[in-house]
Amino acid sequence: MSRRRIIAGNWKMNKTPSEAVELVETLKNLVKNDDVDVVYCVPAIDICPVAEAIKGSNVQLGAQNFYIEDKGAYTGEISAPMLKDAGVKYIIIGHSERRDIFGENDILINKKVKKAFEAGLSPILCCGESLELREAGVYADWIKRQIKWDLTGLSADQVKNLVIAYEPIWAIGTGKTATADQAEEVCKLIRDYIAELYDAATAEEVRIQYGGSMNAANAAELLDKPDIDGGLIGGASLKPDFGQIVNA
Ligand code: PGA
Repeated sequence: MSRRRIIAGNWKMNKTPSEAVELVETLKNLVKNDDVDVVYCVPAIDICPVAEAIKGSNVQLGAQNFYIEDKGAYTGEISAPMLKDAGVKYIIIGHSERRDIFGENDILINKKVKKAFEAGLSPILCCGESLELREAGVYADWIKRQIKWDLTGLSADQVKNLVIAYEPIWAIGTGKTATADQAEEVCKLIRDYIAELYDAATAEEVRIQYGGSMNAANAAELLDKPDIDGGLIGGASLKPDFGQIVNA
């Protein structure tokens, strides 16, 4: 089977609501490609204006965070059903910035993945190793451990609908991209591990992205690899370059 490519922009904490609508307009004609899932994962406050601005286009809406309860006394939080109702389809979970800056661990991340499915959202589950772990040569075990914890209790059917983003922390926002071979090695390792945890059919269907300084110049080589089904793009998703990545 061939997996459908998915190119997602992770806007992080960038763009006010009016700037967000402007960016959607700027990218409108550049991201047209019916063979690819194109997703904008926007800040919470931009969700409603962006939902409106992408109407009638091929772009799908994503978010970057939520809390695991449906509603209640959780000041400052938003829930998965709220995202769903606002038109969100994809949700980034387990990004290294949430793990490192906001202290999210694999137990919470696993709960978030389950809640996202329960609410009808498609998780983009991030994993990745630090430079220290890469240099120590233990990145493969580290990634497997993250995957195992984060997928605990999920059915094969759920995993088939999951997107996993391999994002080596040393490549995020640093301009230092993993080589296509380094990225492929880990994306294949993740797929093989899913086959071990579930079965070959599940591994064949799960979509795996690479993320970390992906840009217009290096996207084609990365996306050409057999186990890389797309990209999660930070910095370059805020620029016209994003259109070149979508069409790479
Ligand atoms: P970057 O970010 O493309 O700016 O490296 C990727 C990410 O953190 O998702």
